[in-house]
Amino acid sequence: APAKLDIRRVGGRLGAEIAGVRLGPDLDDATVQAIYDALHAHKVIFFRDQGHLDDDSQEAFAERLGSPVAHPTVPVKNGKYLLELDSRLGGRANSWHTDVTFVDAYPKASILRAVTSPEYGGDTVWANTAEAYNRLPPELKALADSLWALHTNAYDYAATRGTVSKEAIERHRTVFASTVYETEHPVVRVHPATGERTLVLGHFVKSFVGYSSQDSRRLFDLLQDQVVKLENTVRWRWRQGDVAIWDNRATQHYAVDDYGDQVRVMRRVTLDGDTPVSITG
Ligand code: SIN
Repeated sequence: APAKLDIRRVGGRLGAEIAGVRLGPDLDDATVQAIYDALHAHKVIFFRDQGHLDDDSQEAFAERLGSPVAHPTVPVKNGKYLLELDSRLGGRANSWHTDVTFVDAYPKASILRAVTSPEYGGDTVWANTAEAYNRLPPELKALADSLWALHTNAYDYAATRGTVSKEAIERHRTVFASTVYETEHPVVRVHPATGERTLVLGHFVKSFVGYSSQDSRRLFDLLQDQVVKLENTVRWRWRQGDVAIWDNRATQHYAVDDYGDQVRVMRRVTLDGDTPVSITG
């Protein structure tokens, strides 16, 4: 029988908390399917009190949901695929992005676990890229439908953030962009599971195909601003042991860097995705 989850919406346009599930590799198939359905319906789902998970069981749980893939450039710290974001080592993802869009078949979902959370601050915010597309006026939809974007991990890191240290810029160049990837994606992709059209933007976009960098910047801001309108977002206040899973084909996210020197450690597993298909196939 299909599993019935206790789902409570958190935001008006995306985000739901699921109670009463103990995440791990031994979940029954019906519950795994119900989690998938909730992910597609709500785009980001939150689970409190998953402190029993360690690196191995986070990975083993991820294997139930799909095929995990390691980050293409950042070395795995623990386990087989885990990406660690440690605030002390510059792991502050404080700019809007979809994970790893600089490769062709970028991840379809990400599973993020709060290992150490600050006393205050350090929330993460997600935005709904399907709803952002839906709400565009027809003329802007037509423009977005026609655009292709060049995505790269060697993007202008400093330009996407407020204040950045020289060390952070250097780390971005030597670790994150140690091998440079570039790929072109349609700005509007059709979600293979839901059929929705979503906007594919975020900080890895370098330019639009056929447009100068100046015009690209203006066009980017015009469309990206629709994605990150506050009404189109949901914000999560982390507690240690929380897990968030997001649909990386229908969201962007931003980790708010307002916690100063407090320690914030997150571990993320991403699931293998598919090459985006444009509205013309
Ligand atoms: C990420 O960008 O995947 C990490 C988000 C976070 O640290 O909250």
